[in-house]
Amino acid sequence: MSAHEAIAIIDFGSQYTQLIARRIREANVLSEIHPHSVDVTHLQDYNLKGIILSGGPMSIYDDGAPQLNSKLLEMNVPVLGICYGLQLISKNYKGKVEQAKNREYGKANLYLDSNGSLFKDIKKASTVWMSHGDHLTKVPEGFNIVGKSDHSPICALENESEKVYGVQFHPEVAHTDEGSKIINNFLFNVCECKADWSPKNFIDEKITEIKKSVGNKKVICALSGGVDSTVAAVLVKKAIGENLTCIHIDNGLMRKNESEKIEKLFNEKLSLNHIHINAADRFLTALKGVYDPEQKRKIIGKTFIDVFEEESHKIENAKYLVQGTLYPDVIESIPVKGASVTIKSHHNVGGLPENMNLELIEPFRELFKDEVRNVGRELNIPKDFIRRHPFPGPGLAVRVLGEITKPKLDILREADDIFINSIKEANLYDELWQAFTVLLPVSTVGVMGDSRTYEFVLSLRAVTSIDGMTADWYQFDHDFLSAVSNKIINRVRGINRVVYDISSKPPATIEWE
Ligand code: XMP
Repeated sequence: MSAHEAIAIIDFGSQYTQLIARRIREANVLSEIHPHSVDVTHLQDYNLKGIILSGGPMSIYDDGAPQLNSKLLEMNVPVLGICYGLQLISKNYKGKVEQAKNREYGKANLYLDSNGSLFKDIKKASTVWMSHGDHLTKVPEGFNIVGKSDHSPICALENESEKVYGVQFHPEVAHTDEGSKIINNFLFNVCECKADWSPKNFIDEKITEIKKSVGNKKVICALSGGVDSTVAAVLVKKAIGENLTCIHIDNGLMRKNESEKIEKLFNEKLSLNHIHINAADRFLTALKGVYDPEQKRKIIGKTFIDVFEEESHKIENAKYLVQGTLYPDVIESIPVKGASVTIKSHHNVGGLPENMNLELIEPFRELFKDEVRNVGRELNIPKDFIRRHPFPGPGLAVRVLGEITKPKLDILREADDIFINSIKEANLYDELWQAFTVLLPVSTVGVMGDSRTYEFVLSLRAVTSIDGMTADWYQFDHDFLSAVSNKIINRVRGINRVVYDISSKPPATIEWE
């Protein structure tokens, strides 16, 4: 039971459900996602202020399509239906939903005509994000149509007296211009929430939860040195103290001096009880002769687990494992609802052998990167560490294309160090989601002094992004690029050509492998 005011999100399977939760958290209100089959008496445990019905991938008339428990409409709190959620409301109030002639995916124009509380101060014409095949063809009883799009004549509905609302578009998606404002209107204008929730509350609640489930048992944590696992470890340490032991495995695929820096942080600033394992040779041996990116990822994942398993057996009675898994890791690694393609196997998701018999603690499974950074700041982890760019689990292995060797890794480390330092000196580091260099398995001819060179090509990569799920390449000043290129070619033996990657995600990904 939570003393905080909460919004219940009822999940009908939309890929955007977590985004709704995120928008609500951003507005400092607590949100809880529940399956559509939730027992409504459970919702009475909360200081419930409103209900949001999410979108969903099915048509409401499909066999087995999730339906609305009408008791949700009898809880005396406002209700907002989004897309599929709107269609369920409509069915309940005797409206009609049919397959649309033109499916609407992507950006659309919304035309609004409402003085109601959900749409207060929302522009009369704006861009919204649509993702639906069915639409409303008859207005449900008691509702007014207050918005239409080019293809959906019934696109926004309100029933002010019962405080039930519906939108065909997705206000939770960043492409909906007025989306955050509409969600805020629902929270503060319609549900009269107080904005009494913050990352600090998140921390307090997670600490209570972890204390309750773990008790006096021993917990281990695989500490990569990245932001997510470090913040997770500090949070769990706050909950259970010395019963947490962290294991840091140096896989030989880290950036220049990285392991030493991390060691210092864990010891001096965070006082984390940890074991440092140097397993570089083992990883490099296992990767010998391997060219295929997925195979590399799998080998690194497996070697990591083998080393981790051996080390964790030395910690007696360990019952739990902490991981800093984030929400985007979960959705990109696990085939979701019919989408059967795994883009890249993230080695930190679901890679634990069952025979280890460890239960997972993943406090950030529903959070996005910037939210974890906020939690880290609240936990007083040094700012310089928190602002660090993400670094992939397989490390530089996915940035040395083709076969990995120690000399190639060393070349990459030097170039990477020059690029990152130049970015920091130019005060650009915080503008970027990620910046790194990639060593291509291609040699080209160059001339240095009077000699011919035949050395590797290096690509620079720098992107901006909100959450790593989409990204744009960064438009550096040409003088900056030129200076970096000169520095790298002059200082790093083994590279005689530098190129800049100008691909966005999608269709490229951020990492090259
Ligand atoms: P891509 O390359 O798929 O990457 O666009 C999206 C984000 O995820 C990071 N990344 C990983 N992070 N384990 C991780 O923890 C991994 O295996 C992994 N692979 C990619 C990548 O650096 C980017 O921030």
